Amino acid sequence: MKKIITYGSFDLLHYGHINLLRRAKEQGDYLIVALSTDEFNHQYKDKKSYFSYEKRKQLLEAVRYVDLVIPENSWEQKVSDIKEFKVDKFVMGNDWQGKFDYLHEETGVEVIYLDRTPEISTSQIKEDLNKQLKQ
Ligand code: CTP
Repeated sequence: MKKIITYGSFDLLHYGHINLLRRAKEQGDYLIVALSTDEFNHQYKDKKSYFSYEKRKQLLEAVRYVDLVIPENSWEQKVSDIKEFKVDKFVMGNDWQGKFDYLHEETGVEVIYLDRTPEISTSQIKEDLNKQLKQ
């Protein structure tokens, strides 16, 4: 069984996320999503999620492509996650192009960057809603 892992905040789950999850799952048989916790988003990514970790987790668990959701608490956990879950492929959107190539050297995992879906992001949704509210 081929196991895939991907990482992210997945706040205000949108079709760009769903596209990414679908194509990630197509890379193998079992998709693990390491979901940034509220603390990790706040402390290290300078982001505040609209939905709490528990709500974001519930939404992801309802997506047919997702088999397991685990917490992402640190930048450094990737190597241990890959070893613990015996992951074959590490998948991220291409906004991270090249950033995780080192994981291949360290663990042998295949590292794949998928094209982002154009014109949609959580930040964009927040910005557009803010603008609409001010009109
Ligand atoms: N993603 C994608 N296409 C989009 C938006 C996101 O493929 N249009 C992918 C990202 O590349 C990442 C995963 O979805 O691999 C989770 O991304 P995340 O940062 O949580 O979502 P964004 O919408 O990019 O959020 P933000 O605007 O806060 O950065």
